[in-house]
Amino acid sequence: MKVLVATEKPFSQVAVDGIKAVTDAAGYELVLLEKYTEKSQLLEAVADVDAMIIRSDKVDAEVLDAAKQLKIVVRAGAGYDNIDLQAATDHKVVAMNTPGQNANSVAELVFGLLVFGVRNFFNGTSGTELKGKKLGILAFGNVGRNVARIAKGFGMEVMAYDAYCPEKEIEISGVKAASCQEELFDQCDIVSLHIPATPETKQSINYDLVKRLHKGGILVNTARKEVIDEAGLLQLMQERSDLKYLTDIKPDADEEFAAKCAGRYFATPKKMGAQTAEANVNAGIAAAHQIVDFLEKGVTRFKVN
Ligand code: 3PG
Repeated sequence: MKVLVATEKPFSQVAVDGIKAVTDAAGYELVLLEKYTEKSQLLEAVADVDAMIIRSDKVDAEVLDAAKQLKIVVRAGAGYDNIDLQAATDHKVVAMNTPGQNANSVAELVFGLLVFGVRNFFNGTSGTELKGKKLGILAFGNVGRNVARIAKGFGMEVMAYDAYCPEKEIEISGVKAASCQEELFDQCDIVSLHIPATPETKQSINYDLVKRLHKGGILVNTARKEVIDEAGLLQLMQERSDLKYLTDIKPDADEEFAAKCAGRYFATPKKMGAQTAEANVNAGIAAAHQIVDFLEKGVTRFKVN
């Protein structure tokens, strides 16, 4: 069996070594396509592989057409909006993710962005503390739960809303549950987004919702750029000079945000949430095990199509 790791944004070496140890033990061949710049390189690399490990790399019908022997693709990470699930099913390819494996890494970055934000991007002026501020967590999945845990260490008040998680379950974790996302924005100083990009969530973080944030409010996005209504947020931030937007995913309108909201807008140059050795090791090795378990024993845990 041949396994391809196709990562435009490579894993750390220790994670690649860990993946190789798993595939070696199974007697599989491992090939790497890292930092590729053209889709044609991916199309060529998938031609004779049985399995693939990817990150935010796009796997669409064209890639699946080119991958004649492919049986399984594992997204080493949480969000699988980069895989065309229908096309995978049509090509009889199993798609999986590795939920939770990189969650702490993403959650820690939320606080990196927040400290940077409340200390005025380290410009030397007096900022504020996170202690005592009210943090709203939108979607209480693996990342959201880690954010709640860390927020308590900062002495923040924590509230969450999740359309798919009962209020009871949120409150068991010692977090106040909001009854809807409007209430979350109404009640909080800071809202951290942890929703996936789906037809329901795309552009759902819009002018009317974000304007509910308290004075001096901060929106922090380590989820997906697609969930933001960029035009609405830009308009609001121009009307309300007290708001900040901190994001790990550059918006399409990055230059406009930077020009019109200087000192209140920050985007990481490249998505960094899951870029830690630990997250790479956890997600990469989990993906390798899932591939071996599927090919050897037909295990389909974490199948998403
Ligand atoms: C995820 O969905 O797991 C995160 O957004 C991380 O994405 P990445 O692997 O492309 O860094």
